[in-house]
Amino acid sequence: MNRSAIIAGAEKFARNELAADSSGHDWWHVYRVTKLAHKLAALENADVFICTAAALLHDVADEKLNPSKEAGIAKIDGWLKENRADEDDAAHIVEIISTMSYGDSAGRRMSTLEGQIVQDADRLDALGAIGIARTFAFSGWKGQLMHDPGLPPRENMTKEEYRSGKSTAVNHFYEKLFRLKELMNTAAARQMAEERHRFMEDYLNQFYEEWDPSD
Ligand code: ADP
Ligand code: NI
Repeated sequence: MNRSAIIAGAEKFARNELAADSSGHDWWHVYRVTKLAHKLAALENADVFICTAAALLHDVADEKLNPSKEAGIAKIDGWLKENRADEDDAAHIVEIISTMSYGDSAGRRMSTLEGQIVQDADRLDALGAIGIARTFAFSGWKGQLMHDPGLPPRENMTKEEYRSGKSTAVNHFYEKLFRLKELMNTAAARQMAEERHRFMEDYLNQFYEEWDPSD
C-alpha cells in the first residue's frame, strides 16, 4: 500500500483505538504529537513518513490500554502487515514505538533520527500549558491530590509511600516534567522544551503564591 494511504489508515486506526481514553492518551494527544513530529522531521531533514506513522500509532500500544506491552506492539505489527506497509518501514516504526517510552529508554539514546524525533515530540506534549493540563487530568483519573504541602518531594519519599499512590500532580513536575528538557534529542525540540519549562516554573510559582496567600 502506498505511504499516503498508510498515513490515512493509521490516523483512522488510532482515532478508533483511543477514542474513549481519558488518561492523557486521547486522540488529541496523538494529533499534537503527530504535528510536532512532522514539524521536527522537516527541520531535521528526517523521514517524514516514518515520523508521522510512528507518532500516529505510538499510543495504540500503551500498556494502560492493552493486556501487556507485547500485546500492544503485536497489534501495531499486525496492522502494518495487514495494510501491506514496506517491511523495512514496518520494522522501523515498530522499533521506535517499542523503545520510545520514558521507562524503556532511560539512559539509552534512540537508535535512529526518526525515533529521536518521535520521542522528542511525545515528551514536548508533556510540557508547557498542555503538559500542565495533562498532568492534572491524569492525576484526577488516578485519584491523586493536586497538591499536598505536607508531602516530601519524590526523591525523599520511601518506595512504599510512592507506590501507595501518595504522589500528587505537583510532585509529578519534579519527578518527571522538569527533567525532560535535558533529555531532548534534537536541537529544535530542546529549544521548544526550554520555553515550555520556563512556563511551568512560572506557573508553579503562581500556584504556590495562591496556595498560601498569607505568606
Ligand atoms: P506519554 O507516554 O504519552 O507521555 P504517560 O502515560 O507517561 O504518557 O502520561 C500521560 C500524561 O500523564 C503525561 O502528560 C504525563 O506527564 C502525565 N502523568 C504520568 N504519570 C503521572 C503521575 N503519576 N501524576 C501526574 N501526571 C502523570
Ligand atoms: Ni504519548
